[in-house]
Amino acid sequence: MNHQTRVYENIFEMLPSEENPTPLVRINKLNPCAEFPLYAKLEWMNPFGSVKDRAAWELLRDLETRGELGNGRGMVEPTSGNTGISLAAMARARGHRLLAVVPNKIPLEKKVLLKIAGADLEVISDELCPAPGLGDGSINLAKTHAKASSHKYAMPNQYENPKNAEAHFKTTGPEIWKQTEGKITHLFASLGTCGTVIGTSKFLRTKNPDIKIIAVQPTEGHDVPGLRNVSQLGVSKLFDSSLVDDILEIDFHLAYTRALELCQNEGLLAGPSSGLIFEGALEIVRRDQKGHGVMIFPDNIFKYTSNMTKHIPGLSSGTQP
Ligand SMILES: Cc1ncc(COP(=O)(O)O)c(C=O)c1O
Repeated sequence: MNHQTRVYENIFEMLPSEENPTPLVRINKLNPCAEFPLYAKLEWMNPFGSVKDRAAWELLRDLETRGELGNGRGMVEPTSGNTGISLAAMARARGHRLLAVVPNKIPLEKKVLLKIAGADLEVISDELCPAPGLGDGSINLAKTHAKASSHKYAMPNQYENPKNAEAHFKTTGPEIWKQTEGKITHLFASLGTCGTVIGTSKFLRTKNPDIKIIAVQPTEGHDVPGLRNVSQLGVSKLFDSSLVDDILEIDFHLAYTRALELCQNEGLLAGPSSGLIFEGALEIVRRDQKGHGVMIFPDNIFKYTSNMTKHIPGLSSGTQP
């Protein structure tokens, strides 16, 4: 494959790596501090549209390598959308099927996209993100399917499988280190399964243990798909507090207003979790004044138009004939 000409024999050759990183783009108008350059890592430039391409590929390849897929056996996975979209599209292209168990509250756009990507869909009433402990929670339901119909389903289990964080240790971390030429002082990421922050932190700490790892989370009652409040963090078996310096709790409404500001001032069509991460980064930029920051922007705004109009009603005025 040739990342210069960008001509590929199949879509998987486009997946990110140190040789083919997702872009880092500097924040210009919205950064108040000249001595603290801030870069956004645009994960929506991944071939299936989000940061979850990285984990999905690692999880899928692991199952394939261990001979867990094929002969009519596909996968079942709880997902708030992005993992399912990546996993479904990858699985179909490699001849497997995915049953995605999703909470009802995820945006309609994501449900439709999951079906377009080729997932079979089971929509259940649940919290925004899959929750544990509930008889009918999407994680438990996926586990039940995997157990009761083990001939039909293997479960990648992004919430517990270390391969999720390993994907970021192998790709996201090395990409950032190389792209910043070792200058990074602060990493900003969000918390969902925690694969992104834990894997990337683990790698960067091997290079420079002083890099500050900042995680952001929305306030309780939030509707930012993919993310969790700290009270919901027990779901992730990947979280390791020794790899995170600060956890910032941020008013979830700001996820939407900051995303809009990024769209309208920087030309970055960032989604709400990126908006939340950006707000967290601004707090730290004002606090520390000097540094070299990288924010991992998980996906773009296209899947969230209905959520955006809920938070910013002005967006829908003038759209009716
Ligand atoms: C839009 C979005 N942002 C952030 C995250 C969090 O990433 P991680 O699960 O690696 O913590 C996710 C995870 O699904 C996501 O879909």
